[in-house]
Amino acid sequence: MSKPDDSTRSGPMAAIAVSTRAAGLRGDVTVPGDKSISHRALIMGALSVGETSITGLLTGEDVLHTARAIAAFGAKLEDSAGPDGKPVYTVHGRGIGGLSAPTDVLDMGNSGTCARLISGLLSAYPFTSFLTGDESLRRRPMERIIEPLSSTGAKFITAEGGRLPMTIVGTSIPIPLTYDNSIASAQVKSAVLLAGLHAPGITTVTEPRTSRDHTERMFRHFGVDVDIVQEKGEGEGAYKVSIVGQPELKGCPVCVPGDPSSAAFLVVAALIVPGSHLMIRNVGTNPIRTGLFTTLREMGADLAFVNSRSESGEPVADIEVKSSSLKGVSVPAARVPSMIDEYPILAIAASLADGVTRMEGLGELRFKESDRLTTMEKNLTACGISASVTEDVLTVRGKGAKRKGAVTIPVKFDHRIAMSFLVLGMVGGQSIAIDDSSIIRTSFPGFIPLMNALGASIKTDDGYVMS
Ligand code: S3P
Repeated sequence: MSKPDDSTRSGPMAAIAVSTRAAGLRGDVTVPGDKSISHRALIMGALSVGETSITGLLTGEDVLHTARAIAAFGAKLEDSAGPDGKPVYTVHGRGIGGLSAPTDVLDMGNSGTCARLISGLLSAYPFTSFLTGDESLRRRPMERIIEPLSSTGAKFITAEGGRLPMTIVGTSIPIPLTYDNSIASAQVKSAVLLAGLHAPGITTVTEPRTSRDHTERMFRHFGVDVDIVQEKGEGEGAYKVSIVGQPELKGCPVCVPGDPSSAAFLVVAALIVPGSHLMIRNVGTNPIRTGLFTTLREMGADLAFVNSRSESGEPVADIEVKSSSLKGVSVPAARVPSMIDEYPILAIAASLADGVTRMEGLGELRFKESDRLTTMEKNLTACGISASVTEDVLTVRGKGAKRKGAVTIPVKFDHRIAMSFLVLGMVGGQSIAIDDSSIIRTSFPGFIPLMNALGASIKTDDGYVMS
């Protein structure tokens, strides 16, 4: 597995990319593996007894940071070619009692999921660890995990404002927690559950609504009993998850499906570029991840899930999408957990719809790789699109406004902002540039060549090709 190269992430090595009008996107493709599932497959593989062979693993930089973290705990990771020639990553597990103390600072790069899940894990080991991250991650709040994890007996020393760099003094026998979170956050839920793996007793997390449940599904896949109480139907109302600590995780094969949050950029591009027709194979369709697709259908998208199936405990389908006329809609706050990462690209779709799109309940977007509410409002406005933010509501007025050209979008270490504006550049007479395309590698290596192969026209200033 290649090492992330932080020197290409920003600053002098940042590659400008310019996206110009595309004639139509057509093809039959796959997107890289799901980021959330990839982090969890590596972590649970390391905690298992026996071997875990992972196919479809995302090798974006975010996940490589998790891979390096588990290697630092002593879990061996090997790559080989599977019978179909595709890579298979094998984690030689250490069992939950077998991880060793990292001998150096752990760099979490740009990844909030890596930082928060690994912190949960480390809080339950009797050693001291040191975590840091890139400029964006060092601005993101860690208090949300420190608060519950401190009750296990672990201690956290952070930089000003509860941020990275952070020292974690783990505890040898964690106290099992019952944690009632006021927000739906899979990162917080997973951090507490991972700490609870070591605790002698029951660890319970409740959330006001279900956040993505990949940790719970993967626990079950590795043989851990997980108790879930859902107030209403699946994905609705308060949610409570419990595990009994000190189980044995059994190494097993994991097939990681394509990431719906990555497929989202292809889907919206196909919808807004006239003459497009894409088939995107093998995409995760977990209902707690597909809010964007529901919203796009409400907007009039010609979008279908075909060949629905299940793999490694996760629902999967192929997505067929054709160019469509979209109309503005109201997106309720209740849909936030199922499309938390998709608002930037939804705002791009909204800017080309007829009428106004109002997106509610977006307060959490301020704590992502950038403050996505401010970033989207500023950058859409710079492109001549009418967008406004009040508290936690983003409103985008579709069509009507004349889009400006010769704009360079500062992506602020945010891969989803970068890809969203490259998609916007595919329509209209005016090109759009982004100031740093290298950040896309955190989640979607190969995005630019893939889009160009489908019919997009994206050029980088240095001929840089993402591998
Ligand atoms: C993730 C959870 C979400 C999401 C992030 C990945 C995960 O964050 O935004 O990209 O893998 O657990 P929150 O749990 O903070 O909402």
